[in-house]
Amino acid sequence: MKQFKRHLVTSALPYANGPIHIGHLAGVYIPSDIYTRYLRLRGKDVIHICGSDEHGVPITIKARQEGLTPQQIVDRYHRMNKESFEKFGITFDIYSRTSAKIHYETSSEFFINLYEKGEFTEKSIQQFYDEEAGQFLSDRYITGTCPHCNSDSAYGDQCENCGTSLNQTDLVNPISAITGSKPVKKKTKHWFLPLDRHEGFLKKWILEDNKHWKGNVYGQCKSWLDQGLHPRAVSRDLSWGVPVPLENAKGKVMYVWFDAPIGYISATKELTPDWEKYWKSTDSRLVHFIGKDNIVFHCIIFPVMLKSEGSFILPENVPANEFLNLEGNKISTSRNWAVWLHEYLEEFPDKQDVLRYVLCASMPETKDNDFTWKDFQSRNNNELVAILGNFVNRTIVLTNKYFSGKVPPRENPGKYDREVADQIPEIKKRTGEYLEQFRFRDALREAMNLARLGNKYLADTEPWKIFKSDPGRVGTILNISLQITAGLSSITDPFMPFTAARLKKFLNIENIGWEDTGNIDFLKPGHQVNPPELLFEKIEDDQITKQLNKLMENRQASEKAATNIEQPKGIISYEDFAKMDIRTGTVLKAEKIAKTRKLMKLSVNTGVDTRTVVAGIAEHFDPVDIEGKKVAILINLDPRKIRGVESQGMILMSEDPDGKLVFVSPSDDATDGSIIK
Ligand code: 2FM
Ligand code: ZN
Repeated sequence: MKQFKRHLVTSALPYANGPIHIGHLAGVYIPSDIYTRYLRLRGKDVIHICGSDEHGVPITIKARQEGLTPQQIVDRYHRMNKESFEKFGITFDIYSRTSAKIHYETSSEFFINLYEKGEFTEKSIQQFYDEEAGQFLSDRYITGTCPHCNSDSAYGDQCENCGTSLNQTDLVNPISAITGSKPVKKKTKHWFLPLDRHEGFLKKWILEDNKHWKGNVYGQCKSWLDQGLHPRAVSRDLSWGVPVPLENAKGKVMYVWFDAPIGYISATKELTPDWEKYWKSTDSRLVHFIGKDNIVFHCIIFPVMLKSEGSFILPENVPANEFLNLEGNKISTSRNWAVWLHEYLEEFPDKQDVLRYVLCASMPETKDNDFTWKDFQSRNNNELVAILGNFVNRTIVLTNKYFSGKVPPRENPGKYDREVADQIPEIKKRTGEYLEQFRFRDALREAMNLARLGNKYLADTEPWKIFKSDPGRVGTILNISLQITAGLSSITDPFMPFTAARLKKFLNIENIGWEDTGNIDFLKPGHQVNPPELLFEKIEDDQITKQLNKLMENRQASEKAATNIEQPKGIISYEDFAKMDIRTGTVLKAEKIAKTRKLMKLSVNTGVDTRTVVAGIAEHFDPVDIEGKKVAILINLDPRKIRGVESQGMILMSEDPDGKLVFVSPSDDATDGSIIK
């Protein structure tokens, strides 16, 4: 294989419209972190790039649902997801975001470059338009029936039921996701990347030069290429996204899948002035870690973009994983069928490595796989506690007991001792080979074989029975066991970095690189180790039952929320309705009312005056998120005092069946004081 001087590793930029769950971790971020940690251990020049993908229709839909701006949504989840990754020890060299200025500049330059080289085609096409909302309906703003599988929840760009990528005009019975109305077709101009022009190049590059890609990745690419490629629109009629940087492009932004992968480049630029060394030298190796739904974008579309630009390297590998299911069902955000990282940490603080271990052991490498809480418990109790923890504990305890914590010398090692010692570098070698082939499950099993080897060695030699009669022999056994522990403190680092750090602390060593892993003389006789501490603890049945119950409760609650719509109220006269004076207003200031849980005091410009309103929304919103917000306010409601504050009106809100409050918001260009009728 070609030798590379440096490694550029990217992890798919997660959308900043929701928290991270175990499916994300097992599919993308655990493998990429293991891989980059391994390269670092080997002293390689490697950078690991990630960040938030902050554009795309799902983000604007979420913002609309919550009555917030898209920027507020992405700010919230960018912060939250960055923190989750940090807490799980995922070591990105940078976690950037696609709403950053540098990204706008980089993606705009990229777009103009392709435009000026004539790499785009321009076409006016029919697109669905929502006359009520006054906007074109891109991607997920439109739903309908899939022409292939008849699922009635297909989106304008894709049917999630059968996985087919769609053009919105293929949908049967299209409906606007904004107003629920039937859209009309209207002409609009867009820029296209003519993938068909690059078919010849892609066929050679993927099908001939990249035969080493994983079977699932190669197979999906081949199937795309066999079906024939078509031009792909790279712009959208939306207000949220990177504006198309051309003169005649008002109201157009780049398609999220055009700007997002360029995010890898902008993030690298943000990280280092040397970014071109990573992106533009043929002795750099680019590896994209992604989930299977991202294959076409990373193996076909982005490479075509890079090649059309001309100065960038292409990915050398794209080790995509399949999907992780949870207790036999697909992970689903809307049905709340997921284990969210921030919630896991509330239940199992300090058990990040247990989850990392289990997710690696059951990684969906070649096919979809299942996470179950029972498996989580059994791998913790039967593998981490019983094998790794047990071996390390016995070694450290016995060294402290018999040798006051000092590494004993190896005196006259026998045949069996030498055989055991010889296996240590062998295990390390196999672990490394598996990692280089992206076979993370095999690599983890192999790394754990080092602990298995140590356990068997102690069980076979039983040093606790012979100390009185033969302390020298016990010294030899513990010396070898301690060298195995030193090896474990390095070999576990890619998989379980917190455990690796603790092992180093037990052994009182700072660092151990891959070179020294398996070095039987790494710990010198006389070196002082620390007193023992427990490495892993047993997980009890009731902890698992609690997690299973929580999942079921979440699912029931979301099912109930989906069906629990209140019955309509009785008819009222127009006169009754007309009595209400509802205006557009702007929240000028918001503050929580002290000593209350729910109440917030708002100062609102109603266009008529500025007045105070007390609203029961403090559990749902942060004051900073609603200052500046456009609201609908009933201004002729009888004032009343609430907790000593006179409330002079009512802000209109909708309440979801699950109790979530959402602002009824006039659009940002509505004038304060305008009447809502
Ligand atoms: O599927 C996703 O979550 C996308 N946000 C991944 C983007 S990867 C890259 F292209 F930015
Ligand atoms: Zn379908």
